[in-house]
Order: sequence, then structure tokens, then C-alpha cells
Amino acid sequence: MKYQYKAMPESMRGTYGEFAKNFGFDWKEFIMGIPTPMFLVTTYKSNGQPNATMQSWAGFTSANHGGGYYVILCSVEKKVAVLNFMSSDLYKACMKTIQNNQFEADEITSSGLTAEKASWVEAPMVAECFMNLECRYLWEKEIVPGDDHVMICLEVVGGHIEKDYMEDMFGDKGVLYYAHHPINPEDVKEKGCDYVAALRKVNQSYEY
Ligand SMILES: Cc1cc2nc3c(=O)[nH]c(=O)nc-3n(C[C@H](O)[C@H](O)[C@H](O)COP(=O)(O)O)c2cc1C
Repeated sequence: MKYQYKAMPESMRGTYGEFAKNFGFDWKEFIMGIPTPMFLVTTYKSNGQPNATMQSWAGFTSANHGGGYYVILCSVEKKVAVLNFMSSDLYKACMKTIQNNQFEADEITSSGLTAEKASWVEAPMVAECFMNLECRYLWEKEIVPGDDHVMICLEVVGGHIEKDYMEDMFGDKGVLYYAHHPINPEDVKEKGCDYVAALRKVNQSYEY
């Protein structure tokens, strides 16, 4: 049996799933609950201080006939950035960057993390994160014409990857996934929350 949803179910009235439209979120996001990889994007602000932003609405792909690796995400201030992947023990510190976001602040150091210079682009990166992908800006596009949200495409120039992750990508120190406040319209709970999940290997295939 499958439920069908084309318009927002009445049961979601008054929930966060309806209210979140004020922040630019559609009700479908909360029902469909599709998790996306979570990471901290770091750049320099115009005053030279490190900026750090939690990001999750993103997708990664190869393109250019196999000649490049790309990521599609939302806006950043400079034309370069680093995507820092955190293990679950660093999640709280990374979330602190959202509060420690004053213009004068070094958002990385003030959240208890270590800012290092990236190697190939002019941006800071977080030393404690198990993977740091150095990226440069390629293009941006409105999601729908006249939208206040844009998709941006970054090219991954190079990466720093911990040995532990290379040896066990599906272990405790793997990529975290974010599910934005899932709501089951057939059983609406008054309070919901955001979830963070790890990846579990469930199948294996060879060439396809
Ligand atoms: C888990 C998580 C994922 C997020 N993903 C995104 C995202 O993909 N795109 C986005 O624009 N903001 C996203 N945000 C919101 C930004 O992190 C937040 O607005 C942040 O305050 C912006 O950084 P700033 O304060 O340094 O400008 C996310 C927040 C959290 C907690």
C-alpha cells in the first residue's frame, strides 16, 4: 500500500511542516525525508575572518566527460570554499558555528575547532574534520526564475582524506546524513526534530 500526496495533507496544518514555508521550505521535504550528506563549508569573509556554514542540500557528481568532480549547493561569499566532513563527535562543535557567526568572529576557532589554510584555494579548512574538499566556484542558477534560492556549482579541485575513512568508509567515522524534521502525515507528532544518520552498507555490486 502506498500513500499519495499532491497537496499538503490537512493533518500537517499547524505543524512545523506548514510553518517552515516562512523559511523557504516546502511541506514535501518533511514527508519525503530524503537524507543528504552533511558538511561544514568554510570560506574567508571580506574582512579576512573564517566563515563557516553548515550545508546539506547538496549533490555530488562527476561531469565534463570524466574530467572533473562537482558539487551543487547553495551560496557562499567568496569564489572558493572548502567542504569539511565531520564525524558524529564533531557535530555539536560544527553546529556552534551557526551561533558564532558575527562578522568579526573567526567562526571556526570560536566554535572550538582548528582553522588551517587550504592548500590549493584561498580558504580556511577545519583540521579536525576527516575529509576536506577544496573547491572553486563555477556557476550559479536560480532554482526557479526570480527565486531567492540559487543552486551553485563548485568544482572539487582536490581533497584531504583521513586514513581511517579510506580504510572504513561505513564505520563510525563516515559521512553523516541529515534528514530535515521528518513528518509522517498519517501519525503527526506535535514535536519533531532533525535527525543525523550514518551510512550502512546493505548491498554490494560490481560493474554495471
Ligand atoms: C544540518 C544543517 C544543514 C544545513 N544546510 C544548509 C544548506 O544546504 N544550504 C543553506 O543555505 N543553509 C543550510 N543550513 C543553514 C545554515 O547553516 C545557516 O543558515 C547558517 O547560519 C548560515 O551560516 P552563517 O551564519 O555563517 O551565514 C543548514 C543548517 C543545518 C543545521
